[in-house]
Amino acid sequence: MAQIIDGKQVSASVKQEVKDEAAKLREEKGLKVGLAVVIVGNNPASRVYVNNKKKACEAVGFQSFEYALDEATTQEQLLDLVNVLNRDDRVNGILVQLPLPKHIDEKTVINAISPEKDVDAFHPVNVGKIMIGEYAFLPCTPAGVMRLIASTGTEIAGKQCVVIGRSNIVGKPMAMLLLHESGTVTVCHSKTKNLKEICLGADILVVAVGRANFVTGDMIKEGAVVIDVGMNRLDDGRLCGDVEFESAEKKASYITPVPGGVGPMTIAMLMKNTLTAAKQQNGLA
Ligand code: GUN
Repeated sequence: MAQIIDGKQVSASVKQEVKDEAAKLREEKGLKVGLAVVIVGNNPASRVYVNNKKKACEAVGFQSFEYALDEATTQEQLLDLVNVLNRDDRVNGILVQLPLPKHIDEKTVINAISPEKDVDAFHPVNVGKIMIGEYAFLPCTPAGVMRLIASTGTEIAGKQCVVIGRSNIVGKPMAMLLLHESGTVTVCHSKTKNLKEICLGADILVVAVGRANFVTGDMIKEGAVVIDVGMNRLDDGRLCGDVEFESAEKKASYITPVPGGVGPMTIAMLMKNTLTAAKQQNGLA
């Protein structure tokens, strides 16, 4: 039976580290770290995420600046706001919550964020840096996954790592982080043949496909570390991951639950990136 990886506990320790360092910056350098969060429209899930980000800022002693814009906001108005935030010295990090309404081009908006303030690490400059291992910011969700794997004491070097999902936000950067730790990485996706066979070879399995209960226990190698990035809302309102937990926990050595696994880590790593941004902008990192 697998040991459960407690994302709440690991994220609390990351936030404590950030809080301690932010307090030191305030006391010794007079610096107050600031994060601007921009949300456009009324997507209920986005509202919850943005509120959680705001609460996390308060918990670690950051200033947060929230911009809740109307659904009808034009792309030009949003770009104007991003430009104002790029120039605002109180703002060390800028996060524009995705998805944006259909009439706004997400790429154009992401590209407008100053790479030095891009705490999501979505800007092409930061994506490129991830590729060559010169991280300005670690992409939040994959970085959170790496921290969860580390919390189990599992060595990544030389291990068979399988990532299911190839999104720009999770799958692709996830593969890079595992590769930089010398894992042997396979990326699977909707066109992959023999998915079960490939999964059965995985010592470390990271699942980010966005389909409830997609990976079942019969696809998991005995003793594997299983990380479930999925967050699917079932018809009855319950949250459920991409991994069928009941069958998977019988095979894995370690497994993340949903909720309470990867989810809390993403925000903790966002706080860490915002602290890094503040240090870099002030010549302290
Ligand atoms: N929407 C869902 N996840 C994220 C995230 O990590 N960052 C942003 N900006 N939007 C999101």
